[in-house]
Amino acid sequence: MQMLERRVSELLQKGSFVSVQLGALSDDIVARHHSFVREQGGRILPLLEKVCQVHGQREPRLLAIKTVFQDLHQDLLLHMQKEERVLFPFCKELENSQVGVEMHCGSVANPIQMMLYEHDLAAEQMKQLQFLSEQFTPPNWACNSFLALYQALKDYHQDLEIHMHLENNLLFPAALRRESKLQGDLEWDAPSPFGIKHDQEKKSTAC
Ligand SMILES: [Fe+2]
Ligand SMILES: [Fe+2]
Repeated sequence: MQMLERRVSELLQKGSFVSVQLGALSDDIVARHHSFVREQGGRILPLLEKVCQVHGQREPRLLAIKTVFQDLHQDLLLHMQKEERVLFPFCKELENSQVGVEMHCGSVANPIQMMLYEHDLAAEQMKQLQFLSEQFTPPNWACNSFLALYQALKDYHQDLEIHMHLENNLLFPAALRRESKLQGDLEWDAPSPFGIKHDQEKKSTAC
């Protein structure tokens, strides 16, 4: 949580939320967090394979951890691709446009609903990993690879919390407000950093 607060205050120090631009924030998320997921995932997968082979019989929960992590990481790779190809470019268009922006899937609210739904799924998978690993606590007999694996999973989890927080509570509300402003629904003002409400149901209209 401290890491999360530090990261948010770092963004706040860049300026008010009015001046935290949609494009700059989405670029920052890609550079820091999407890159981290890709790199850390690439590190964890072979480590998991190795630790499962050596210790899977003694600690069968490792095999469940491997299955959940593989699913989570695969889902996140696709999720980030959707953000980078669809949602983030649309956020930049909203920022740069003086008139309403047309999108093939309608309002920016549609892809945002889909991303929120996928964040909820990822959070659920992370909870399973926390449970299976006892909050990433290695057993006292753990070898160096085992220790490295749990530390890497813990780092992955912490970064993902920050990553999803920035999107859920900063970027997405800012994009929704910008779209409303372009549509003349409300005056453009600073988005609230916290408290976006979202429907947990998957929307069939989402991209
Ligand atoms: Fe993301
Ligand atoms: Fe996301």
